[in-house]
Amino acid sequence: MQTENLEKVIVIDFGGQYNQLVARRVRECGVYCEIESFKAPLKKISDRKPKGIILTGGPDSVYSAGAASAPRELFELGVPVLGLCYGAQLMMHLLGGKVGRAPEREYGKTELMIDAPDSPLYDGIPHQMTCWMSHNDSISVLAPGFEITAHTGNCPAASLECREKKLYAVQYHPEVLHTSYGKEILSNFVCRICGCSGSWKMEDFVSGKIRELRKKVGDGKVLCALSGGVDSSVAAVLLSKAAGKNLTCVFVDHGLLRKGESELVERVFGPEGPYKLNFIRVDAKERFLRRLAGVCEPEQKRKTIGEEFIRVFEETAKSIGSVDYLVQGTIYPDVVESGLGGESAVIKSHHNVGGLPEIMEFKGIIEPLRCLFKDEVRRAGLQLGIPEELVMRQPFPGPGLGIRIIGEITEQKVKIVQDADAIFREEMKKAGLDRSASQYFAALTNVRSVGVMGDERTYEYAVAMRSVDTSDFMTADVTEIPYTVLKTVMTRIVNEVKHVNRVFYDITSKPPGTIEYE
Ligand code: XMP
Repeated sequence: MQTENLEKVIVIDFGGQYNQLVARRVRECGVYCEIESFKAPLKKISDRKPKGIILTGGPDSVYSAGAASAPRELFELGVPVLGLCYGAQLMMHLLGGKVGRAPEREYGKTELMIDAPDSPLYDGIPHQMTCWMSHNDSISVLAPGFEITAHTGNCPAASLECREKKLYAVQYHPEVLHTSYGKEILSNFVCRICGCSGSWKMEDFVSGKIRELRKKVGDGKVLCALSGGVDSSVAAVLLSKAAGKNLTCVFVDHGLLRKGESELVERVFGPEGPYKLNFIRVDAKERFLRRLAGVCEPEQKRKTIGEEFIRVFEETAKSIGSVDYLVQGTIYPDVVESGLGGESAVIKSHHNVGGLPEIMEFKGIIEPLRCLFKDEVRRAGLQLGIPEELVMRQPFPGPGLGIRIIGEITEQKVKIVQDADAIFREEMKKAGLDRSASQYFAALTNVRSVGVMGDERTYEYAVAMRSVDTSDFMTADVTEIPYTVLKTVMTRIVNEVKHVNRVFYDITSKPPGTIEYE
């Protein structure tokens, strides 16, 4: 897929909480779409020849000093524009209308009455529907040339348009599921108004990407750090289709993986596996344990694991000779969250191989999944024939079990966590909860306490079970695991895992807790 020639819509991000959702809804309509910060120069946007532009919501008030804005010329490109919430207010503000504090704040599900059923935006939509509102400001004076196309009880200008110039503005959020015909409204915009064909699909991505990568890589040598996680696995298989034996995958086994995981990675990606990759597994378990001896402080632990990982990877890479390209499994939320695409300010310190490009010399970095969301990466993986077991895996942190063992890491503790975790996973699967919970695992608290077993006093470790439900991993609720399941896991862990005499279920949400322990 060459994104330069693709039919696309650009979503301009003003910092609202649903902005990635807007992009994914557009893709669900079969239209490729990218997020750009409102700070991006107009030329950068017009050069990409979008078929349409969507302005998102945002936390500012258009009339306050320093509010996020856009150049007025954006509306003169001849490209249809749809403003959502803040985007709608900004459109009015820039084109000569007025926005002020709403007499009453509107939040939540609201009845929307459509006043212009012939509007192309409302084609095929009932004249009355539920929409999701979340705003303090409202449009009090329309910009010249605009008409009201819908209202609510508290908001007379709930949607507006200047049909002639293909400018549309809605005060509500069509991207959230609470807006009952939101997807149809967005589809009307991108397909009917912008004229997109709606034919973009994942299958095109995979075949197009392989062609594009072949062209780029030529007969250059490619190196991929394979962690066994979803992103690096899909990236590796894509590259193997493009570079064949010129691709080498290095799998650094730091010994902090879950039970059976290292073997699974080798089975799938190793020389005996279906892809017959050039695969190097580095067994660095001893080395990591040595480096981690005596390290207890969480950040120090993370740093030690990260540094050692880079060192092992670098040594292995050197041993295979010169390399032209390094593959990274960066995905779209990483791009947006690191401020490269959209506006969201969160910068993850999680990137496992993030330090590599600076210390090694390459012609270039290849990030084949850079424009995909996680579920799209999974679909691409399934299409490439990667086993579901790997593709549907829950997130697993780069430092692995190292951050699920509180305090010092020892071989014995790693074994305890691996065994307890395997039991927890097995029972969650049996109970049918393995797909509904977002992430679950066992961890080792550094606590030892007195217990009794077979009339004997014990003084052993306590294991914590953790399971969370979340959509973005920034906040999370605890999974309500049935008590019978918890009890079965507890019984099995204390009976089957040596050195454990207590099991806790951690019921802390995030915030205040994080998902991992360190
Ligand atoms: P926390 O513990 O911050 O975790 O609530 C949020 C999500 O991020 C994952 N996580 C990591 N992923 N490298 C990663 O690739 C890391 O260092 C790392 N630390 C946390 C965590 O598993 C959860 O899904």
